[in-house]
Amino acid sequence: MRNKLIIGNWKMNLGLADAQDLVFKLKSSIGSKQSTEVAICPPSVYLMTLMNVLKDTPQIKVGAQNMFYKEEGAYTGETSPKMLKDLHVQMVIIGHSERRQYFNENDKDVNLKVKSALKFGLTPILCVGEDLKTRENGEAENYVKNQLIEGIKGLNNSEIEKIIIAYEPIWAIGTGKICSGEDANKIIKMIRSTIKDKSSSNVSDKVKILYGGSVKSDNFKEHIQYEDIDGGLVGGASLNFEEFIKLIDLANTAHEQTQSHPV
Ligand code: 13P
Repeated sequence: MRNKLIIGNWKMNLGLADAQDLVFKLKSSIGSKQSTEVAICPPSVYLMTLMNVLKDTPQIKVGAQNMFYKEEGAYTGETSPKMLKDLHVQMVIIGHSERRQYFNENDKDVNLKVKSALKFGLTPILCVGEDLKTRENGEAENYVKNQLIEGIKGLNNSEIEKIIIAYEPIWAIGTGKICSGEDANKIIKMIRSTIKDKSSSNVSDKVKILYGGSVKSDNFKEHIQYEDIDGGLVGGASLNFEEFIKLIDLANTAHEQTQSHPV
C-alpha cells in the first residue's frame, strides 16, 4: 500500500527568516514514526540554506519549484537539474499551472523537463489540471489525460514508476473553491488507469497521485479518505505551520483507516 504524501509548494512567498523559522518548527515536529511522507518546495534561492538546516532530517524531503531541462549553458536566470542535484535536492515540481499560464510552458517543455529531472535522479512532480471553461464544457477528463500522456511521452516503465503526479484544477488554486473529493477522485482514478495503459498495473499501483487546489485542514478530510488520492500538493496552507501539521495528521489518520476499510 502506498504511503500518503504531503508536499508544501511555498510558491514565491516568505522572507528568509520566516522560511528558516518554518523549517525549524517542522523539523522539531515531524517524527520518523509517522507513515505520511513530507516534502517542502521553497523558492530556489533558499534551497541551499534550508537543505543545510534539514541535512539530518531525512523525513522532510526538499524539492524545487521549477528547473530548466538543459544541464548548463547561456540560459540567464535558469536553474539546471545538475545544480539541484549538487544541492542534494530530491524533487522538482514540473509544469505547475502557474508556469504554464504565466511563463508559457507547454506540454513539450514539460516532457523535456520530466525526462531531464529523471536523468539527474530528481523525482518529478508532474502537475496537470484543467481551467474552469474546460471543466464547464465537460472536457476535464480528456484535457487532463492528454496533458498526462504528453508529459510522460517516451518514458519507460521504470521511469514512469518514479514520477509523482499532482492533479491541480486551475479553478481551485488560490480561489478558495475546492474540487469535491468525489470529482477529484474521478480524475485521479482516470490518471491511474491511463498510467496503467501506458505501462503496467505494477507501475500504476506504485505511482503517487496527489490532489492540489485550496487544500486546507477543514476540507481535505474528504479527499484524503479516497484510496487513490495519495496526498496533497499544498500552496497557501503550507505556509502556516499549524495548518501544515494538521494536514499531515489527517493523512496519517486516513492511511490507518484505508488500510482497514479501503474507499
Ligand atoms: P493553493 O493551495 O494555495 O490553492 O495552491 C495550490 C497549488 O498550486 C499547489 O501547487
